[in-house]
Amino acid sequence: MKHQNNIKKMDKRCLFRRSPRGVMIWGAWLTVTFVLTSSYFMADKTSKLHRYTLEKIPLRKQSEEAVTRASPQYPLTDPHGPPSAGTQGTKVESRPEFYNRYWPVNCSAVFEEDVQEIARVDAMLKKERQKSKKGEIDIASDTLVANFTQNCENYRTIRGFPTKVLSKEEEEFPLAFIILTHKNAAQVELLFRAIYQPHNVYAFHPDGNSPPEFQRAIRNMASCFDNVFVCSKLEKVQYAGFTRLLADINCMHDLVNHSVQWKYVINQCGEAFPLKTNLEMVKMIKAYHGRVDAESYDAPHKLSRFHKLSSRYTSFTKTEDRLNRYPPPGNITLHSGNAYNTLSREFVDYVLTDKEAVQFLSWINMTHSPDEHFWASLRRYHNAPGSYPNITHKDINTSFVKWGGEKASKECVGKYVRGICVISTGYLPYVSRVPNLFVNKIHYSYDPVTLQCMQELLTNRTRNPQLTLQYYKEFPPKRAWYWY
Ligand SMILES: *[C@@H]1O[C@H](CO)[C@@H](O)[C@H](O)[C@H]1NC(C)=O
Ligand SMILES: *[C@@H]1O[C@H](CO)[C@@H](O)[C@H](O)[C@H]1NC(C)=O
Ligand SMILES: *[C@@H]1O[C@H](CO)[C@@H](O)[C@H](O)[C@H]1NC(C)=O
Ligand SMILES: *[C@@H]1O[C@H](CO)[C@@H](O)[C@H](O)[C@H]1NC(C)=O
Ligand SMILES: *[C@@H]1O[C@H](CO)[C@@H](O)[C@H](O)[C@H]1NC(C)=O
Ligand SMILES: *[C@@H]1O[C@H](CO)[C@@H](O)[C@H](O)[C@H]1NC(C)=O
Ligand SMILES: *[C@@H]1O[C@H](CO)[C@@H](O)[C@H](O)[C@H]1NC(C)=O
Ligand SMILES: *[C@@H]1O[C@H](CO)[C@@H](O)[C@H](O)[C@H]1NC(C)=O
Repeated sequence: MKHQNNIKKMDKRCLFRRSPRGVMIWGAWLTVTFVLTSSYFMADKTSKLHRYTLEKIPLRKQSEEAVTRASPQYPLTDPHGPPSAGTQGTKVESRPEFYNRYWPVNCSAVFEEDVQEIARVDAMLKKERQKSKKGEIDIASDTLVANFTQNCENYRTIRGFPTKVLSKEEEEFPLAFIILTHKNAAQVELLFRAIYQPHNVYAFHPDGNSPPEFQRAIRNMASCFDNVFVCSKLEKVQYAGFTRLLADINCMHDLVNHSVQWKYVINQCGEAFPLKTNLEMVKMIKAYHGRVDAESYDAPHKLSRFHKLSSRYTSFTKTEDRLNRYPPPGNITLHSGNAYNTLSREFVDYVLTDKEAVQFLSWINMTHSPDEHFWASLRRYHNAPGSYPNITHKDINTSFVKWGGEKASKECVGKYVRGICVISTGYLPYVSRVPNLFVNKIHYSYDPVTLQCMQELLTNRTRNPQLTLQYYKEFPPKRAWYWY
């Protein structure tokens, strides 16, 4: 049971696994866990783990290429049209601008669950996977993406980045996004293009340990827009460690100081993909009426985590001892949840500046997988703005994640990787209709058609917002947790 939980958790954060393949057997698993956790603590002691004194966000160079201001006209359609799809069959390395290979698919048929079309796509991808030894589909390398994004003007034009706000409603409700990434710049770029709007703000956190060419690709992308930046403090994120939580916190410090007056922040990882257009996200989030959306449930069996690792630093051997003798500030009740959430600005301000919240961050520092408990606990803590004590496990709208062994109206179509469903095209008819903002996870090199079709659907709905109602009878839905 515990073993399973570990696997579950590990995957939850898009993971920074450095272990070789095939460690799924018990013994090896424990060894890996031990090595990773002890290296985490060694790192803890020797490096400056928490660096709260953040510098000012560096001023980005202003240029004519800078993102244009909103026009008072609010054009209904994206003037640049859909992102350039690429050309069919072009070898990715030979034409950098077409590194997103175009797959001949009737996406409308896919979303209507046309079994023949889905089977055809499956067969096509299977054949393609067999071409490589690794059984994965060739995607653009980080170097190719870095080269392509070097010339901002080309990059923005070829990929058809929107330059104007699409509606007054969206303009009045800017969003902030934090994207934690560590590999596959090509997939990160697709995600970024799919959520980019010129009036929002985007914070990238490339892992401090990821390779230089990956860093270069992400930095190039960020440098092409005034409203996109790389977080000023980058953590070397370690499994189940405090650094995972700090990565988001660091970016939030930058975000609250950014000139864009965002209303909510959504944090995601590079393997997520949106299921809603920007306008749809705005409508959904407005329906929360200032409340925070963060998974939070009671998991008494996980309480051992609050003494387990910290016992290296203290004499406590039992959870109860630590919780009783060194209770969290404000006696905050501990809950479990996940790292990907939709948080209001007021809530973030509170987390970064309130004395009790800052103490709670320190308190949770030495525990196991703090990101899984920090947001979940504060989300139900009465002093936190936008908190809500009564939610249950299912009341989460940020990310759709299909766990193995967890009931869902439709079983995973795709493959399980460390307990999480990596979706394939056949799951799109279902996933495209769930009430969540994002799906986690997609692997570009496993099923690129999922990304292509989802992007096509979102582009169509962005251009033609009435299409939303073909997918959801009532939007945004009225009967849900935030309504009470
Ligand atoms: C998107 O719109 C285009 C043009 O109208 C159409 O051909 C295509 O089937 C649509 N795709 C989806 C997924 O709705
Ligand atoms: C794609 O599929 C839709 C729905 O099944 C169908 O109406 C349309 O004609 C198809 N388009 C093409 C080009 O085959
Ligand atoms: C990237 O650009 C460098 C310098 O122009 C070039 O040497 C290299 O071949 C390019 N790599 C790819 C994969 O495009
Ligand atoms: C915002 O920037 C100022 C000036 O650099 C700094 O003093 C302040 O701590 C920052 N705020 C947050 C929440 O990081
Ligand atoms: C949020 O998710 C719940 C299911 O957990 C659903 O009932 C509700 O409609 C969703 N909210 C929105 C705004 O889509
Ligand atoms: C803290 O909360 C626990 C249970 O939630 C309770 O048993 C305990 O008495 C509280 N401690 C203080 C100091 O309020
Ligand atoms: C977290 O713990 C480490 C190791 O004890 C310590 O150096 C650091 O100051 C702590 N950070 C916070 C935010 O409490
Ligand atoms: C939420 O919990 C509070 C306190 O336990 C209770 O008074 C209230 O009725 C609950 N609200 C709902 C909608 O369940």
